[in-house]
Amino acid sequence: MQMGVLGVGALAEALIRGVQQSNCPFEWCLSPRSTQRVAQLQALPGVSVATDNQSVVDQCGSLLVGVRPAQLEQLAASVHLTPEHHLICLSAGVELQALQQAFYPARVTRMMASIAVQYPCSSVFLYPADTGLSATFTAAGYGVQSFATEVQFEASMLSVCVNAWWLEQIQALADTLVTQTGMNLPEAVALLARAQQESAVLLQHRPEMTPAALAREIGTPGTFTARGLDHLKTTQADQPWVEILSQLLAELKRPF
Ligand SMILES: NC(=O)c1ccc[n+]([C@@H]2O[C@H](COP(=O)([O-])OP(=O)(O)OC[C@H]3O[C@@H](n4cnc5c(N)ncnc54)[C@H](OP(=O)(O)O)[C@@H]3O)[C@@H](O)[C@H]2O)c1
Repeated sequence: MQMGVLGVGALAEALIRGVQQSNCPFEWCLSPRSTQRVAQLQALPGVSVATDNQSVVDQCGSLLVGVRPAQLEQLAASVHLTPEHHLICLSAGVELQALQQAFYPARVTRMMASIAVQYPCSSVFLYPADTGLSATFTAAGYGVQSFATEVQFEASMLSVCVNAWWLEQIQALADTLVTQTGMNLPEAVALLARAQQESAVLLQHRPEMTPAALAREIGTPGTFTARGLDHLKTTQADQPWVEILSQLLAELKRPF
């Protein structure tokens, strides 16, 4: 797979580094702006740098767009695209229709990811679904999820936010383990990270069960787990999470 990159920012760099570590690395052709970042990436096998944006476009049919929303207009004005070009756009919060207008006549797919894409086996989200792109990223080891509507795709951005919220929870629990057992912080974090991985494994392998049913399967009556589940329920510990998620979802649904 050959992919051009227009706008080599933090997220694009993470994706390039992740894909190049995978079993199916790409050939990347980078736009030259962001000199320091580009110089470091150029040291990776399979990465080259073009002289300007148009030269990236001339060399590649698939183009990753890594600029911020406010930079899209200027970027679009700097290139001449054809219907054969396929743009994969990371810019958050800009609707597909606006992107299609800005990059006419190219085809556009929106992509969402977190900085965790620097490691293959993390996830990328797509809208609209694209079989070829899904196959390419799946082959590189990524989890790929596509959505039926753009609102659902926007919500995938919030799943990226939820990651950070979980990390804060892990910190609080790890601090408690450190204080009360004398474990050191990396040991406590490793323990909790494994526990979280096991939740994900259960969810993936038992799709017929809801998360709550799985929780109750682990927390059979009389166990420490059940006591914890009952305590969290009684204190409505999930409420602040539900509140902020639904507030942010409501904001996402407004026109941009
Ligand atoms: N970073 C994250 O963790 C993350 C997570 C989820 C979503 N996102 C989304 O991903 C998008 C990119 O974020 P980011 O953090 O990667 O941004 P960033 O680090 O600011 O990267 C944008 C890059 O594009 C370059 N650029 C701007 N205009 C250009 C042009 N006309 N031609 C060529 N290059 C140009 C910028 O160069 P200059 O610095 O010289 O302007 C910069 O290097 C945003 O919409 C963001 O919301 C980011």
